[in-house]
Amino acid sequence: MSTLTPIDLTKQLQWRYATKVFDQSKKIPAQTWTAIEQSLILTPSSFGLQPWKFVVVTNDAVKAKLRAASWNQSQVTDCSHHVVLTAKRELNSNDITRLIASTAQQRGITVESLAAYQGMMSGFQSKGYMTTEWAAKQCYIALGQLMAVCAVLGVDACPMEGFDPVQVDEILGLRAEGYSTAVCCSLGYRAASDKYAHLAKVRYSNGEVVRHV
Ligand SMILES: Cc1cc2nc3c(=O)[nH]c(=O)nc-3n(C[C@H](O)[C@H](O)[C@H](O)COP(=O)(O)O)c2cc1C
Repeated sequence: MSTLTPIDLTKQLQWRYATKVFDQSKKIPAQTWTAIEQSLILTPSSFGLQPWKFVVVTNDAVKAKLRAASWNQSQVTDCSHHVVLTAKRELNSNDITRLIASTAQQRGITVESLAAYQGMMSGFQSKGYMTTEWAAKQCYIALGQLMAVCAVLGVDACPMEGFDPVQVDEILGLRAEGYSTAVCCSLGYRAASDKYAHLAKVRYSNGEVVRHV
């Protein structure tokens, strides 16, 4: 049973905005961070394949390098935690076997009982659908869940596509591990000076965006 009322949820989603100025002195407490990290891990993905790795940057020197590769956006250095959501560049039969083994182990069932599921994934993979772009789309699901979770917890966030992905990959040594940057998100607490916090939300009306049939 949720303790969050529908009204409170909407209030928190209105409270959230793409934070431009973070208060450098405020850090996300450990318990709050643990819940945020769980939200990343619990993100659903197509087939459950989890074709990602989330790189959490708190080191000041690394943040400074990433800022230089991110259009010099101050959020990167001034936030508490800067998350780089990275997509697995290649998905092959090993990834499918790994998921099947993990499912069998975590659910206490046999690998053989998952043959149909494995066959379905292999068919999808052999058609060439499991591209880096496909993995990156899954990362955006994690980004959406991350931002919503942070809003509910009263943590500020700035989603970020304004960076040079090749440079970010280089700084974090991602390509060597088989990953590349899909999108980023700076997390922390807004500075009192951030005038963007007081701007009205710009959204099209329900009627324009939602169609009920
Ligand atoms: C995928 C994505 C990438 C974005 N990249 C940046 C960015 O690089 N820098 C920035 O300041 N805002 C960035 N934004 C913030 C958007 O401009 C902002 O979310 C949008 O204008 C709506 O405003 P709101 O989030 O304050 O409601 C990004 C948002 C998304 C969803």
